[in-house]
Amino acid sequence: MSVISTEINENIAIVTVDNPPVNALSHAVRNGLCDALKDVSDKEDVQAIIIICAGRTFCAGADISEFGKPPLTPTLPDLMDIMDGVSKPLVAAMHGTALGGGFEVAMCCHYRIMDINGKVGLPEVNLGLIPGAGGTQRLPRLIGPEAALDMICSGKPITAKSAMDLGIADHVREGNLLETAIDFTRNLLKDKKPVRRVSDLTCDADNEIFEAYKTKSERKFRGFLAPFAAIEAVKASTELCFKDGIKFEREKFKELVSSSQSKAQRHLFFAERAAAKVPGIDKNTASRDIENVAVIGGGIMGCGIAINFLNAGMPVTLLEISAEAGASAKQKIEDIYNSSVAKGRISEEQMARAIDLLTISDCYDDLSATDLVIEAVYEDMDIKKQVFEKLDQILKPDAILATNTSFLDIDEIATATNRKGDVIGLHFFSPAHIMPLLEIIRTGNTEGDVIATAFALARKIKKTAVLSGVCYGFIANRMSSCYGREAGLLLMEGATIEQVDRVMYDFGMPMGMFSMLDMAGIDIGVMARENLSTDAYDERAFSVHAALVAEGHKGQKTGTGFYRYDDGKKPNPRAEELALEMAKKYSITRREISDREIEDRCVLALVNEGYKILEEGIAMKESDIDVVYALGFGFPRYKGGPMHYARHLGLKKCLKKIEEFAEKHGERWWSPSSLLIKLAKEE
Ligand code: 3HC
Repeated sequence: MSVISTEINENIAIVTVDNPPVNALSHAVRNGLCDALKDVSDKEDVQAIIIICAGRTFCAGADISEFGKPPLTPTLPDLMDIMDGVSKPLVAAMHGTALGGGFEVAMCCHYRIMDINGKVGLPEVNLGLIPGAGGTQRLPRLIGPEAALDMICSGKPITAKSAMDLGIADHVREGNLLETAIDFTRNLLKDKKPVRRVSDLTCDADNEIFEAYKTKSERKFRGFLAPFAAIEAVKASTELCFKDGIKFEREKFKELVSSSQSKAQRHLFFAERAAAKVPGIDKNTASRDIENVAVIGGGIMGCGIAINFLNAGMPVTLLEISAEAGASAKQKIEDIYNSSVAKGRISEEQMARAIDLLTISDCYDDLSATDLVIEAVYEDMDIKKQVFEKLDQILKPDAILATNTSFLDIDEIATATNRKGDVIGLHFFSPAHIMPLLEIIRTGNTEGDVIATAFALARKIKKTAVLSGVCYGFIANRMSSCYGREAGLLLMEGATIEQVDRVMYDFGMPMGMFSMLDMAGIDIGVMARENLSTDAYDERAFSVHAALVAEGHKGQKTGTGFYRYDDGKKPNPRAEELALEMAKKYSITRREISDREIEDRCVLALVNEGYKILEEGIAMKESDIDVVYALGFGFPRYKGGPMHYARHLGLKKCLKKIEEFAEKHGERWWSPSSLLIKLAKEE
């Protein structure tokens, strides 16, 4: 079946794109559109043309899978040239998400109408790109450079109402879009409305707005190339004629599309979607109905978890040990909502609706009709097992029993029940109502429909989910522990707190390891390690942490940790002293440490552990590990995640360095992954 069909309705040609799932502008679509437009342009009885899409959305952009391959003509710019040459009114009728090239097609039309629930946007920056089919030249002409900068640099789509207010949409309607489009076009013809090309418009602006925008963006888009290229391209729309502006945009687009940043960001785009594809589980796998949720434990984590479901319109029962503890949890949730209202993120009504869905309880019996229970109590095996034992007695058959443990063996937790198949890990990241990642942990016994339900639920609460097997720390925290170990050892070997943090910040992480520990609370890791045998971790690496906590320096919450916060943020001299003491205690020779060594050891610790996690079958796919580290810990998206970055560096090169570290620092932590050895040989 052709992806393009044309129907003539009296004197109006209706050109329909039908390229599921999202009507991406693949070669076949571009080709079909060019042919259809040429064809109907030549037909004398056709006086106007509507472009509309079948299925769930208007074109959601260029076909991303074609990037990096030799371009096939007609390209999108070729299509735009043909559209700009059409001399009959051209109307775009948009529903769903008209994104990227899709929105650029619509901007090349002379009139735009939108379904009331539709959205338009230019999300190319999320792929390390700028709009490459006229978006940076047409949008500023249509809505002015400042509004265009906001849309292009943020990549965020806007609603039909905003599109109407900004002058993007000429008409927004509820109901049958095609009928609306035909009526609208008939009226255009009746009123003899002209062909109206955006390329004929001009726009100008003071140079200062671009300088100011660049300055404002420096922190927000640190490390990313695309937003800054977008600023230059929008600036060009105010300085150059349309044709030259398009040339400028094209050059920038070409540079970016072959950059390592765009490759990395495109890799993550597909990796995030691939993460939900689990062998043996597909659309046809039955999943369980989850109408309501209970969260056990009203700490900051439990409250954050509860908010996810309240936001999704699901009733939540939050269970605490006493009425007072319950009231305090409710207060925490209300505080979070109040702050969202104050920041303008949600309205008072949305907050009231969400809080109405919350029930506080201190009685397990209240959970008897619950579909999903997520335990978020203290990280202790015995306590967790007691909770699961109680749940086993109370919950109805088919209820799902989830734990939010960050490290513990979920197979063991499940032994406290007589329904091991219903037990799963749902590991949220703090703050749980904000962080976009959900680690789903399957035990040796978790049923397929429970896993399918967890993925469906992740989608409902707008999280990207990755499946992990059971091991200490699962994918996320197991990897992070290795990075933490190297940071700790480097500190004792002679690096400074600020140096380690600066190097990893400059690498692109949102903050360095010691700043992160201070933010999360150093005591959390110290307490977790107290339950571990010293074989399981490097005692030396975390000895400064333990000593700091013993002296009350737990991080930001106590005002001191690796840093002190009384007069701005400065390294805590006590932490530096402890590093010297511990180096002496463990006979570690201190030396000058280069920035290069810090970056290599921290990043390659992640890479080596990532391959071990993969070879053990804890992660299903290499790309899942990238998704975990990018979404869970802010590994720079423009580097694509640790595994993608390793491939970018070259696996042979990575392996060589890991072998050198093994020689210098011992095989205990640096024995290279056998999978890495194998893949490096194949490279
Ligand atoms: N190209 C190729 N495949 C695409 C695609 C695109 N532009 N957009 C989505 N897909 C694929 C996805 O990979 C997924 O495939 P899969 O089922 O095999 O995993 C499938 O379509 C469905 O996508 P989602 O799972 O993401 O579906 P949702 O309903 O959740 O979201 C969406 C739909 C909002 C359209 C989302 O897919 C999206 O944001 N897509 C990307 C949009 C985009 O970035 N457009 C700009 C492209 S670059 C461009 O246009 C350059 C131009 O300026 C020259």
